[in-house]
Amino acid sequence: MKKKAISVILSLTMVAAMVAGCGNKTEETSAPQETEAEAPAETPAEAEDTTGGEEADATEGEAAPAGNADLADKKVGVCIYQFSDNFMTLFRTELQNYLVSLGFSADNITISDGANDQATQTGQIDNFITAGVDVLIINPVNSSSAETITDKVVAAGIPLVYINREPDEDEEARWEENNWDVTYVGCDARQSGTFQGELIGDLGLETIDKNGNGKIDYIMVEGDPENIDAQYRTEFSVKALTDAGFEVNCLTDQVGNWAQDQAQQIVANALGQYGNDVEVVFCNNDAMALGALQAIDAAGRKVGEDIYLVGVDALSEALENVISGTMTGTVFNDHFSQSHSAADAAVNYLTGAGNDHYIGCDYVKVTQDNAQEILDMVQ
Ligand code: BGC
Repeated sequence: MKKKAISVILSLTMVAAMVAGCGNKTEETSAPQETEAEAPAETPAEAEDTTGGEEADATEGEAAPAGNADLADKKVGVCIYQFSDNFMTLFRTELQNYLVSLGFSADNITISDGANDQATQTGQIDNFITAGVDVLIINPVNSSSAETITDKVVAAGIPLVYINREPDEDEEARWEENNWDVTYVGCDARQSGTFQGELIGDLGLETIDKNGNGKIDYIMVEGDPENIDAQYRTEFSVKALTDAGFEVNCLTDQVGNWAQDQAQQIVANALGQYGNDVEVVFCNNDAMALGALQAIDAAGRKVGEDIYLVGVDALSEALENVISGTMTGTVFNDHFSQSHSAADAAVNYLTGAGNDHYIGCDYVKVTQDNAQEILDMVQ
């Protein structure tokens, strides 16, 4: 999977209790944060899956594909790995709105919260199958469960669109080989990692290398280690630096599970341990970058002056930080494009048009120069 263990002499400074080191990360295990999680939709059958509530509004300006008159009667089941995830909240809200704009009835769209538990989500998928949904859109809790999920959904004759958490190559190859109505919609996380590395590298060594050791000393805060987005962002952010000729020094690399509170703790500990040697903080997403920023503030450090911080997603709060200079940059993870492509793919299955087995999209690098523009778009 990854690992970039550079020439780090961790043993000299290691404080046993916390750490990890870059080839030996620890995993924080605190419970996932609870945030909002309002959610769209009402369910056709399985009430326990639904949070009820909000009516979806149609998204403006989107052309509905031909044949949409038939969509009003089609039932769509959507499984989200965890409602409290900030990014997936943006994604599912846009997905719901866009499905309605295409002609689906809000009453026929059910969105379930897997609560970050694969067994819970598997039960929800079983319920959707029993309820006879016409198409499933699934953000798996564990990508490694995709084979089992695919088998049961295909056996039930239901087309399947995976989103956000990409199943592995072998699994995707099965869809192709068997000509199943199964696809994946998502962006290539290698690109987001590369953009993160470039955001840092573009600053130049003189700017970043505050301790004057000739290297970029960084800490890495990773998302869920099973998730390919976390793996690739971790690997490619550092690769972009080494490809550009920088020497890098990984002080610590730890798992924050995409969560703000876990990242805050990790970065607070790392700043306590490595002090001013921490020059860069890479976070696999913006929620964790916001947690990192809290720790950086608490330690009396200043982003843009003595430390540099990047995330991914382009959450509004992160964009505001990029604009004000309290984050170095982020990468827009285009939830509009991804949710629209997922809905369009569902329609293509329902109309018989079919889909490729992989539907991609592009990330966008965000600096102070374009952050306002992206903020205007996402708000
Ligand atoms: C996003 C994260 C999110 C994760 C969920 C990633 O693509 O960047 O913010 O937590 O997806 O799987």
